[in-house]
Amino acid sequence: MPLPSYRMEVSALPLLQIENLTVRFGGLIAVNDFSMNVEDGVIHSLIGPNGAGKTTVFNAITGVVRPHSGRILLGNKNLTREQPHKIVEAGICRTFQSVSVFKYLTVLENLYLGYHSKLKLNLFDEFSPSKRRKFTWEMYTRAVFVADFLGLKSRLLSYAGSIPFMAQKLVEMGRALMSNPKLLLLDEPAAGLTDVETEQMKEIILHLKNEMKVTVLLVEHDMNVVMNISDTVTVMDFGKKISEGKPEDVRRDPMVIKAYLGESESA
Ligand SMILES: Nc1ncnc2c1ncn2[C@@H]1O[C@H](COP(=O)(O)OP(=O)(O)OP(=O)(O)O)[C@@H](O)[C@H]1O
Ligand SMILES: [Mg+2]
Repeated sequence: MPLPSYRMEVSALPLLQIENLTVRFGGLIAVNDFSMNVEDGVIHSLIGPNGAGKTTVFNAITGVVRPHSGRILLGNKNLTREQPHKIVEAGICRTFQSVSVFKYLTVLENLYLGYHSKLKLNLFDEFSPSKRRKFTWEMYTRAVFVADFLGLKSRLLSYAGSIPFMAQKLVEMGRALMSNPKLLLLDEPAAGLTDVETEQMKEIILHLKNEMKVTVLLVEHDMNVVMNISDTVTVMDFGKKISEGKPEDVRRDPMVIKAYLGESESA
């Protein structure tokens, strides 16, 4: 007699879960009962008009602002109200809407700063030249790998303030990649770039996903970038989610056209 066959339904946990997140600034509700999941291995874009609450979502994920309510989980680890450095250690790194590099440090030194979460030297290690050499060598090797990946290898010894704007953006991205994050949050990586640079940035973000196997949560106003490289798009307006789905579906959603795309098309 044949044995009954049982099919196991394996439901993989999303990499990031944001559940009913609310962030208030005094009387202003910047993020209002907002939920979204980011699946592992994708490029997921978060879009919406100016002031919709996108950066505030990033700030809540990275522990920069305290949510009024809601939960943020990475896998099954609850990161709500964790300290920012604990969130980096858990595997989430970010770039900022305004490019933030240390202009009077070299590119290499800027990259080193992104490695601090790996610094696990105790007091005894501090006095051990061999441990310190090993750590420095690992940090240097990672920096060269990241710089090579981003096309920054020839600029490692330049001051970050002396290199072109696009390269500074890549240094900031490189700093975030130094700790080998599972999830990278990019806040408007294409802002201020020329058309050619924007195309390069698109390629780099695709490489992050395909070669470096980093999951990307992307905030971006450039619809050409968003619609071309995203697996999923979530749309916010006034702190709330108004649409979500594949880029081609979101693009056609009347709510989105009204709130966001309509605005930019008529501009
Ligand atoms: N630290 C803060 N204190 C007070 N209000 C804030 C603060 N940060 C953001 N806000 C307000 O919260 C709302 C959402 O801002 P947020 O920066 O998240 O929008 P955004 O979607 O990133 O917009 P943009 O596309 O212009 O970057 C806005 O009304 C903004 O003025
Ligand atoms: Mg913003």
